[in-house]
Amino acid sequence: MKILVLNGPNLNMLGVREPAIYGRRTYAELEAFVRETAAAAGASAEVRQSNHEGELVTWIQQARGEYDAIILNAAAYTHTSVAILDAIKAVGVRTIEVHLSDPSEREPFRHLSYVSMAAEATFKGRGFESYADAIRHVAGKGAC
Ligand code: DQA
Repeated sequence: MKILVLNGPNLNMLGVREPAIYGRRTYAELEAFVRETAAAAGASAEVRQSNHEGELVTWIQQARGEYDAIILNAAAYTHTSVAILDAIKAVGVRTIEVHLSDPSEREPFRHLSYVSMAAEATFKGRGFESYADAIRHVAGKGAC
């Protein structure tokens, strides 16, 4: 089971960015947490972050035939990006949406998720554990 974990804009600022919402653990700690959690679930995780919408689109496209699942925190692009939605639909790789916070309990502009329109499941509001929930979800269902 090979999982591609993609993180969108500003997630590289974890630890510094709005700690009351996102906590004090850093992006490097998130990467390590995801890799360790995947290994414990019998999977391998490639973890990437980009501040660029097009780069995320390209990585989603390239996942076809390479990865069994994508775990995607598109960050702010969640709420704006038809291009990311279209990429998920185009490649047909099962995609799980994750968020550290719970966007549905925040500002109204975060309530719309384009990613949700194509995602198999969404895990949110549990900090790093949202990623662990997503990893266990995909690993539990086996390779596709
Ligand atoms: C986020 C929630 C988004 O609304 C926000 O723009 C982010 C992070 C989260 O993980 O809680 O950048 O995706």
